[in-house]
Amino acid sequence: MVTEAEQFWDDHYRSRRTWGGRPNPLLAEVAAPLTPGSALDLGCGPGGDTIWLAQQGWQVTAVDISRTAIEGIRSHATSLGLGGRVTADPHDLGESFPAGTFDLISAQYLHTPIDLDRGRLLRQAARSLRPGGLLLIVDHGSIAPWSWNQDPDTHFPTPTEVAAEIALDPTEWPALRADMPRRQATGPGGQSALVTDNVLLIQRAGAQPSARRVAETQLPGRLHGEAQSSGRLNEETQPSARHRGIV
Ligand SMILES: C[S@@+](CC[C@H](N)C(=O)[O-])C[C@H]1O[C@@H](n2cnc3c(N)ncnc32)[C@H](O)[C@@H]1O
Repeated sequence: MVTEAEQFWDDHYRSRRTWGGRPNPLLAEVAAPLTPGSALDLGCGPGGDTIWLAQQGWQVTAVDISRTAIEGIRSHATSLGLGGRVTADPHDLGESFPAGTFDLISAQYLHTPIDLDRGRLLRQAARSLRPGGLLLIVDHGSIAPWSWNQDPDTHFPTPTEVAAEIALDPTEWPALRADMPRRQATGPGGQSALVTDNVLLIQRAGAQPSARRVAETQLPGRLHGEAQSSGRLNEETQPSARHRGIV
């Protein structure tokens, strides 16, 4: 039986003709200095991050509730000669989680209008990290002019609130970064606006060389503070991004 969530996201992607596209800027910023290993892209959607990671040499598992998105990414990866680097599987992350352990797990704008226990699934993600591995969670922190939702009362959970929802032991999973950088984003019509991202970067204790490198070279001075970041929005994700009232 097709669930409401599967139906919603499959309808969303069914009319899509192009897959891949630009990676999300925060993912690129965090992953670029890392030594490629195994990555998991949670709610991969059109697959811009998956394809970019595979091009950087990562072995990527991409999961999404939409079978249409999964099939689109699979055939796009194959057409780029990246079929050996990308495993794309359908998962309702409220019901099942991919097997294995990972050096990098990314949840970019994993928002949905359908009920989803994000705390539980992100806690599972943290447990699926290898020692020294990184969990990067990037959520919307503001409403772009081209978003579906223009409700000024929308509450965007802060990184601290997201961390509280995941409820991890900070000695085993310390937060390397919890901030709300702003950046100039480009909308579907080419319009430009300043948007905020809510960023939480968690590391599993027991650093490996690649994770130590990011902790030492990229992040000092950015722990639990506000930082400016620049980059382009993967704007096609923005209009559909919802999570408990966030659109
Ligand atoms: C706002 S989109 C973000 C897509 C992609 N990460 C990006 O940044 O372009 C949210 C994604 O989460 C997926 N999603 C929503 N609910 C899900 C669930 N229960 N299990 C797995 N994926 C889900 C949707 O299909 C959609 O691709």
